[in-house]
Amino acid sequence: MLLRKALLVAQKQLRSAGVRSEEASSIIQVVTGLSKEEILSDGARVLVDRDVNMIKYFVSERLRRVPLPYLTGKSNFYRDTFLVGTNVLCPRKETEVLVGSTIHAVESLQTQKNSLLTVVDAGTGSGCIACSVKKYSAWPIHMLGVDMSFHALEVAKHNARNLDVDVSFLQSSWLSAFSADSLDIIVSNPPYLSSFDWKNCEPELSYEPYTALVGGTTGTEMLKQIIESSIFCLRTGGVLLLEHGKDQIEQVKNLLEKNGFIDYDCVFDYGGHGRVATARKGERSISKSR
Ligand SMILES: C[S@@+](CC[C@H](N)C(=O)[O-])C[C@H]1O[C@@H](n2cnc3c(N)ncnc32)[C@H](O)[C@@H]1O
Repeated sequence: MLLRKALLVAQKQLRSAGVRSEEASSIIQVVTGLSKEEILSDGARVLVDRDVNMIKYFVSERLRRVPLPYLTGKSNFYRDTFLVGTNVLCPRKETEVLVGSTIHAVESLQTQKNSLLTVVDAGTGSGCIACSVKKYSAWPIHMLGVDMSFHALEVAKHNARNLDVDVSFLQSSWLSAFSADSLDIIVSNPPYLSSFDWKNCEPELSYEPYTALVGGTTGTEMLKQIIESSIFCLRTGGVLLLEHGKDQIEQVKNLLEKNGFIDYDCVFDYGGHGRVATARKGERSISKSR
């Protein structure tokens, strides 16, 4: 089959099923190893049968709404490619904003402090945040990733090895493994969908781990838990960075302020939605014991 025809057929099938037709090119890139430009300019190329069959298989799985990263086993995030599997959430574009804000927080905190900063990624999943922050921070940091899922941690370890970054991973329910006043920065992209929203989301989400997506009946339950234990684990002046839903800005701000965080700020994602809350543990914040 000609490359041009394979592309057109895949685009048409995807479009008719309500899937972005641009994915046809991504599928062909993964299967053939050709670049996007080559696919557009070399339409007369004859594809071998094995590639044609693989393209057909990927398209049929996308018609069942299996997420593309689960088919290819990888996902581009920030500046690298990460291994993903059905045990972990597929890294999202909007989470790259959280990485950028954390790298910025490392920089501004490090200028005030001489010792090595300890940074924890709570709910690390594929390790995409922890590995990117470690790799692209201008300063050496002690980076840890925690998750309650053993299988997610296996994927995260694999990604850290692949990218040759030194990140320690730990199985823990949120921050329960850490003592009072022991951390400088906590970053988290927790599950923040409500169970109701999850039922009404796009079909792709049903393939991803429920515990990585749903934060409870209201969606803010895990955000609340993390905020409450962060004020305990952070050192004075330490920074908490949380990704949240675009409709959860006020709730997260209130939870942070109620728990004694100061200097709240909201960072917007590429789509212009308030997506990341940042705040500091002030001098007078009360660290409640657990
Ligand atoms: C939204 S995913 C984020 C994954 C990854 N950090 C990312 O941004 O792509 C949330 C992660 O939190 C983990 N998680 C859920 N409940 C947890 C808990 N009680 N303690 C630790 N991790 C938890 C899930 O296993 C999942 O990996």
